[in-house]
Amino acid sequence: MTKTPIGRKLGQKVKKGKLKASSRRWLERHINDPYVQRAKLEGYRARAAFKLLEIDEKHQILKGARRIIDLGAAPGSWSQIAAKVTGSTEEDVRVAAIDFLEVAPIPGVKILQLDFLDDDAPRQLMEAVGGTPNLVMSDMAAPTTGHQKTDHLRTMHLCEVAAYFAVEVLAEGGHFLAKTFQGGTEKDLLNMLKQNFRQVMHIKPASSRSESVEMFLLAKGFKGRKAVQDADDAAIEGETAEE
Ligand SMILES: C[S@@+](CC[C@H](N)C(=O)[O-])C[C@H]1O[C@@H](n2cnc3c(N)ncnc32)[C@H](O)[C@@H]1O
Repeated sequence: MTKTPIGRKLGQKVKKGKLKASSRRWLERHINDPYVQRAKLEGYRARAAFKLLEIDEKHQILKGARRIIDLGAAPGSWSQIAAKVTGSTEEDVRVAAIDFLEVAPIPGVKILQLDFLDDDAPRQLMEAVGGTPNLVMSDMAAPTTGHQKTDHLRTMHLCEVAAYFAVEVLAEGGHFLAKTFQGGTEKDLLNMLKQNFRQVMHIKPASSRSESVEMFLLAKGFKGRKAVQDADDAAIEGETAEE
């Protein structure tokens, strides 16, 4: 049995008892997960923190971000990181987070307990973040129904709505990061992102469980609403000239 830095042993078994076999397997995987133990050690609310940190280590999306919007924030580890990198404080809030679940307060983060699909969510998020964001990040996953295809479609829908929100609000040069599924990103969504950002890629961080089909979609370097509009106008002019 391996010991972790906080003295917990990996490879622990949960005694057979009242728990259902599936719940026991989940609990065993959880207590033996080195990222869960590292999150505890480093003061993060969730192991998800390491997915963002890993993506950032390779793609530098947090560096220089002055304002960040966190979609699907509970329990709050991405928001903890966002508050730190933006230097957000209660007096000068630079991070807005949303989740329909309750998120315990995080200093410097304005938390909205609301469905992101609510019509008024975009307005409330922009009001809460207090200026143009440089990063819109979404770890939203639809609550599971037990029907995998339905769950994937719902999460993909959240990813798509988040992407359209990002191109509406991001500062030029900003980035968009969202949870998606292997092979799940629609072609139309990818094309829209490629039109609006300099680089678009799929990422599977090591801290994302290998048995999970979870992936992240990263769109880097927002071209800006004017640049994209000018390119569209030029394309339309070109088509008209050819007629
Ligand atoms: C994987 S968790 C996020 C973990 C978070 N990134 C962290 O670091 O703590 C996904 C979250 O998305 C939220 N979510 C899913 N659909 C949502 C929606 N329509 N509006 C707001 N939050 C949503 C869920 O409630 C859940 O808390």
